[in-house]
Amino acid sequence: MPDFPILDGKRILLVIAGGIAAYKSLELIRRLREQGCGVRCVLSEGGARFVTPLTVAALSEDKVYHDLWSLTDESEMGHIRLSREADLVVVAPATADLLAKMATGLADDLASTTLLATDKPVLVAPAMNSLMWAHPATQTNIAVLAGRGVRRIGPNAGSLACGETGTGRMAEPAEILAAIAAVLDPLARGEGPEPLRGRRVLVTSGPTIEPIDPVRYITNRSSGRQGHAIARGLARLGAHTILVTGPTAEPDPPGTHVIRIETADQMLAACQASLPVDVAVCAAAVADWRVRNVAGQKLKKDQGEMPILELVENPDILATLSKAGPHRPGLVVGFAAETQRVLEHAQAKLARKACDWIVANNVGPGTGTFGGERNTVHLLRATAEGGLASVEDWPLLSKVSVGERLATAIADHVAGTPRAVS
Ligand code: C5P
Repeated sequence: MPDFPILDGKRILLVIAGGIAAYKSLELIRRLREQGCGVRCVLSEGGARFVTPLTVAALSEDKVYHDLWSLTDESEMGHIRLSREADLVVVAPATADLLAKMATGLADDLASTTLLATDKPVLVAPAMNSLMWAHPATQTNIAVLAGRGVRRIGPNAGSLACGETGTGRMAEPAEILAAIAAVLDPLARGEGPEPLRGRRVLVTSGPTIEPIDPVRYITNRSSGRQGHAIARGLARLGAHTILVTGPTAEPDPPGTHVIRIETADQMLAACQASLPVDVAVCAAAVADWRVRNVAGQKLKKDQGEMPILELVENPDILATLSKAGPHRPGLVVGFAAETQRVLEHAQAKLARKACDWIVANNVGPGTGTFGGERNTVHLLRATAEGGLASVEDWPLLSKVSVGERLATAIADHVAGTPRAVS
């Protein structure tokens, strides 16, 4: 799970309204607690029908509030204090009913009263049937709330609890967590120095998948975690960040423009369409080969012989972007995932690909880098002639921290250079 250092010590007031997605809010509470966040929960009357106050209290390790008229709660806490002691109010799931109450200023229970009385930022994660979501009444309410500065994550498209398919699924706990971190982060909110504001950056991430036939494909073990963390780090410093990614389970990094592709050819096309950029970081594990003749129909076992897959080399995206030309990014950063003689191979790669920096790491057995949370990397910089200018050895860091540190190094490098797009 990604690290969000910004969440450590923060206080979230989580309002759980009455939707089937309330079960996902239990996971959200756990994740927030793991990040060091204090979580206090308000259950609406409907919410308390989907998850029990006891479960919510146990997970949040705090008292749960659900009754506006409880004298003890009012004397101990009061709905005004309840909503003001938090750093952020999160409504998950936000039902059509509660969103309507928020938009019109109704306050007839503890959840709606708390939301009307708060002076803190509010993030809603809507969840409802797709027709309810698409209804002009709901869309008007959402627009009204957005105009008042209420933030929103989701809803996502997919299968819904009512058996239908469409837009209305509550965002996943990991996505809500990332959105909470983004709202609380002063840099992401544009309140701090943003050394990369006005810069366009491109990041590739994840694996590519290369089809064999309509149901089978060749791929690799890349999780996309490091590439996504780099995109997140760059966006945090204000860069207009385009993330071209193969299929991964990672949530979209806040503030980035995500382009999803499957094959290396598609990744190259998406990268080229994104030019010009100031910086390109190629962190994707692009499949080296693809199948020459992809079968139009599923290959059958019973056709006698075993199929022979003829492979052809995929385009090298990093080398293509590094080629001199009017659209060459001012800084091109590649990765070298090696299992032995890491620095030696990385240095050779720096020259062969003609990129400016290489982030080298050891992905050998036992390092836990592939799919893991942490990474030990070395940053190699090239001279103008392609030789080795310097090597920095970074300590063992979380992938999120590697992303932030690389983004800072990039910001230092591009400072004062002309912009790709002015
Ligand atoms: O050649 P190798 O795969 O070892 O190089 C790794 C670096 O090159 C990474 O930065 C990776 O994103 C990039 N690469 C690429 N396109 C390929 C192969 C690798 O962009 N086809």
